[in-house]
Amino acid sequence: MINQNRFSVFLLGAATLALLGVGVARAADSLDAETKARIERFEKGALTIDVSKYPGGIRDNYEVFSTKCTQCHKLSRPINCDYAMPDEWSRYVKRMMHKPGSGIDSADGKKIYEFLVYDSSVRKKTMLDDKLAKATPEDKTAAEAKIKEVRDKYDK
Ligand code: HEC
Repeated sequence: MINQNRFSVFLLGAATLALLGVGVARAADSLDAETKARIERFEKGALTIDVSKYPGGIRDNYEVFSTKCTQCHKLSRPINCDYAMPDEWSRYVKRMMHKPGSGIDSADGKKIYEFLVYDSSVRKKTMLDDKLAKATPEDKTAAEAKIKEVRDKYDK
């Protein structure tokens, strides 16, 4: 009788551990189906950007971007994503900086943000213009000011 009770306790413990294990595994891979599908679509595109016609400062920032943003996934993910507005970039760069072990400090974060804003104004111009046209007048004005600030800083 005593042995049987002990065995039940053991089984209960084993079941709890198994459930915990499943929980941990799911937390690590907790992207919903929609996000997963979106990310797969992004990753199908090009792995690099031709920056040969960009100004020197932006080419330098591309080096930071392609070093820091390939530590956890392919560069095709940010290269081919649907984000083009300065606010979208500041949100995503911050989100990635805050992931454990990213090793991206705020100086690198700023260079990457400026690279992405600049690149979107050239390579993703159609997408960017479309987003600007759909934004509220205030958001459009704010976004255009941020784009101009980055363009003025690097286009000399
Ligand atoms: C420490 C690991 C790590 C680093 C470094 C990292 N990422 Fe990510 N990235 C992730 C993970 C995990 C996801 C998927 C979950 C999510 O979006 O939070 C992701 C997703 C993304 C997505 C798709 C988001 C979506 O939901 O559509 C973009 C875009 C992206 N990363 C861009 C970047 C950029 C730009 C950098 C460099 C500033 C970067 N990543 C650096 C881990 C990282």
